[in-house]
Amino acid sequence: MSASIDMLREMASSNAKMAIKMERKGNLDEAIVYYYRAITALKKLIKMEERKSIRKIYEDRLKQYAKRVLELLDMVKRDSTVKISGTEEKSELRRMVKEAILVEKPDVKWEDIADLERAKEALMEAVIWPLKRPDLFKGSRRPWKGVLLFGPPGCGKTLLAKAVANSVNATFFIVDSSVILSKWLGESEKIVKELFRMAREKQPAIIFIDEVDAIASARSVNEHDAIHRVKTVLLAEMDGLYAKPDERLLVIGATNMPELIDPAFRRRFEKRIYVPLPSFDARKEIFKIHLQGVNISDDIDFNKLAELTEGYTGHDIALLAREAIMRPIRELARSGLLDQKDAKPRPVRMEDFIAALKVIRPSVSKKEIIKYEQWARMFSSG
Ligand SMILES: Nc1ncnc2c1ncn2[C@@H]1O[C@H](COP(=O)(O)OP(=O)(O)O)[C@@H](O)[C@H]1O
Ligand SMILES: [Mg+2]
Repeated sequence: MSASIDMLREMASSNAKMAIKMERKGNLDEAIVYYYRAITALKKLIKMEERKSIRKIYEDRLKQYAKRVLELLDMVKRDSTVKISGTEEKSELRRMVKEAILVEKPDVKWEDIADLERAKEALMEAVIWPLKRPDLFKGSRRPWKGVLLFGPPGCGKTLLAKAVANSVNATFFIVDSSVILSKWLGESEKIVKELFRMAREKQPAIIFIDEVDAIASARSVNEHDAIHRVKTVLLAEMDGLYAKPDERLLVIGATNMPELIDPAFRRRFEKRIYVPLPSFDARKEIFKIHLQGVNISDDIDFNKLAELTEGYTGHDIALLAREAIMRPIRELARSGLLDQKDAKPRPVRMEDFIAALKVIRPSVSKKEIIKYEQWARMFSSG
């Protein structure tokens, strides 16, 4: 239990920090979402904390964040107020859905994703086969309607969802939770309804909600009315999917924070797939993927690199590779040769990686990984 309190505390503070950082950068949409997450974590903490004095601290902090969210929402809305009414409503909504939601074919292929074999198989079974052979997935073999990818950040959830979209002939809607919850808040429940209506028209279709915890976190009495409504609509739409098994429509959600997800939503994501940290072999492959087309020296030992990066996420390894391959370029610049078109950088050497390892550290702690594994043991189904 105390591990979980620690985690929530960490979650509240890291999300609040990110919110402030985003606010400074002027990314108000994202700041709002980080505040929501901090608030959700605080609410849970308040429920678990027995000491009144500490509870009071959390409650004050929660109020402060909630107030800030409202102020930010006002600022964001001022930029993008839309009046919709009467006959124009429908086309206006469609335009908004198109703007808030990307309809596209991503260009990620299965080969671009190292390892994650179990997750790939689970997705084949849950998403790809039923879309390819609807005739086989009927009656008691009914297809999954809600699939949740969860796990530490930077380990391939978004990549997997995009590879799925690329390998089936289905319309793919990408929903950015932060846009829905900030820019279009107020209109957001209508957007969600319209989104499902459009997806139904364009079957087979996949709705991918990235960072789904932001929309699917626990509902509570004192939250912003519009947020409450959008959650209710999303729940109802997901229920609708289960009520109509013949429709070729499903929702894939991805989250780094599965414990923030409301049990009601969790139940509707029937298939829950853990996307873990990369294994030894996966790390080797990720290095290779990110060094494609780069001039590298023979002294690079991929086994050694994989050994040295235990606990790194795929994203950490991508950053590490980028840092290492920049070093020869920096040398070239320092020696004043960058402007000369025929001056070539030297090959990237093992020492570049060793130096990069000192700068790029793993972004996820062991403690956090244990938390994901616990959640996976309790709730995963693939
Ligand atoms: N298994 C993997 N194979 C190749 N690249 C990976 C892998 N996992 C993560 N990456 C790298 O990390 C980046 C972030 O991955 P992403 O799928 O967005 O993570 P998540 O959605 O789980 O937070 C990717 O763009 C890619 O560069
Ligand atoms: Mg992602």
